Amino acid sequence: MTIRSITITGEPVLHAVAQPVTDFDDELRTLVADMFETMDEAPGVGLAAPQVGVGLRVFVYTYEDDDGVLHRGHVVNPELWITPTSVEELDLESESEGCLSVPGERYPLRRAERAVLTGVDVDGAPVRVEADGWFARILQHEYDHLNGVLYVDRLVDPHAHAARRVIKKAGWGKPGLSWLPGTDDIDA
Ligand code: NI
Repeated sequence: MTIRSITITGEPVLHAVAQPVTDFDDELRTLVADMFETMDEAPGVGLAAPQVGVGLRVFVYTYEDDDGVLHRGHVVNPELWITPTSVEELDLESESEGCLSVPGERYPLRRAERAVLTGVDVDGAPVRVEADGWFARILQHEYDHLNGVLYVDRLVDPHAHAARRVIKKAGWGKPGLSWLPGTDDIDA
């Protein structure tokens, strides 16, 4: 397994719709294994293929919930069903998320409370995962990556404005930027 470089916002693959996987081969197996290693090294709770520069509909996740249950897996060619979102005021503490492609930053964003993920695994076998709370948030975040959407694209003001400023100040938002977990000194 190999730790891969993580693309930073501005890299075109992050902002494009990823393609469905058609070849369930060793290359796909290696991609998923590398994505797990890269996610763990970062560390992060989720990682989508475009974040390692691969425009395919694949993501991995790892999350231990409040009951100590570890949710760890991968999905290929997923679909995601979500419950309607509420319009209550955002809670800055409990609703702030981050992204390894906008490293070191966190902004609050409303997500659906529940999600159902379906798809297949690297062998083409069916996958179905029901999630709520923070785990549901992770699935929504990673699924968005496959459609070229970063969480910062979904922010509302004043958070959207703040994120734009930070991204500009960091020199991100242009092609060709990435960082290597375990090597580059980035506090993701
Ligand atoms: Ni992300």
